[in-house]
Amino acid sequence: PLKVIFDGDPGLDDAVAWLLALASPELDVLGITVTHGNVSLPLTVRNAGVTLALAGEAGAGVPYFAGAQGPLVRDPVTAAAVHGDSGLPAAGLPKPLRPPEAEHAADFIIRTVRAHPHEITLLATGPLTNLALAFRLEPALPALLREVVWMGGSTGGGNCTPAAEFNVFADPHAAHIVFESGVALRMVGLNVTMQCVAGPERIAALRGLDNRAGAVCAELLTFYAGVYRERYNLSGGALHDPLAAAAVIRPDLLDWQAMRVDIEVQAGLNLGRTVCDVYGVNGGGRNVQVAVGVRDQAFFELLLERVALLP
Ligand code: BDR
Ligand code: CA
Repeated sequence: PLKVIFDGDPGLDDAVAWLLALASPELDVLGITVTHGNVSLPLTVRNAGVTLALAGEAGAGVPYFAGAQGPLVRDPVTAAAVHGDSGLPAAGLPKPLRPPEAEHAADFIIRTVRAHPHEITLLATGPLTNLALAFRLEPALPALLREVVWMGGSTGGGNCTPAAEFNVFADPHAAHIVFESGVALRMVGLNVTMQCVAGPERIAALRGLDNRAGAVCAELLTFYAGVYRERYNLSGGALHDPLAAAAVIRPDLLDWQAMRVDIEVQAGLNLGRTVCDVYGVNGGGRNVQVAVGVRDQAFFELLLERVALLP
C-alpha cells in the first residue's frame, strides 16, 4: 500500500475525508498532523482524535500530532460558520482515542519522510502551515516526498473571498512556500470540488449503511447542507476534502492538467488567489498537476463503499 500522512484541520469534511482514507486498503496511514484552520488548534486536534476513534481498528494504531497554532504571517481566520463552533457538529461522538503525541507535526513529517524517502504521499486538506514549516526546517524535504495532494485553491473564483479559497486565504504565505518548493504537487480545487455535492439522497445513502461512521457522516453532512443551501443555493455541501482523499486512492477519478500556478501573497483584493495559467500563456514552468475534471458519481460510490467498511 501507498504510505500516506494526512495533514488537515477537521473540520467536518476533513473528518469525512480521513474516514474514507483510513478505510481504504490501498493506503498505509503513518500518522496525522493537525493544523489551525476551520476552528482553533485545540479543537482541530481533539477532532483528529475523535475521527481516529470513529475509524475503529483502522484508526487504532495511527499517531497524531499537533502543529501550527496559526498562519505564518497573516492574522488567523477560521470557518466556524461552515463547520460549527466545535468543527464537528454531531451529537454523541466518541472521545478522542488517546491524546496527541508530544512531537510537533512538522518534526514528525520530517522524521517520517526521511525514513521513507520518495515513498510518502502527503494528503493535505487544510492551510499549508505545517508543511511550509517542515520545508523551511528541512530544505531537502520537497525532493524526498513522493507527492503532495492538496485540497485548496481554484482555477476560478474563491469561496472565502471572490478571489481566494479558504485553505489558501487562511495562510497564503505557507501556500506560496509549498508551491515554490519544487515538490510534486496535485491541486484539487473548488473548480472540481464544487461539482461534488452531498444532497439529501447521498446523505440518506450514508445513513442507510447502518453503521456508526455512516450515521456520523450523515449528521455532519446534514448540518453542512444547511450552510450550503443558504450560502450557495446548492442542494448539499461540497465534498472538498473527501475528493482530495479520493484523488490519492483513485487518481483516475479526476482529469489532470499540468500548469503554472502562483499564489498571490500581496494584501488586496486578490490575496490568496491561486493564479492558474490554464492556457499556458507564460510558456512553461509548470509546477502543479491541477484537477480539471471529476467523475462525481464514481467518486461518491467509492466514498460510500469505504465508509461501509467502518464500524
Ligand atoms: C476547504 O476549506 C475548509 O473549510 C474545508 O475543510 C476545505 O478544506 C474548502 O474551501
Ligand atoms: Ca479542510
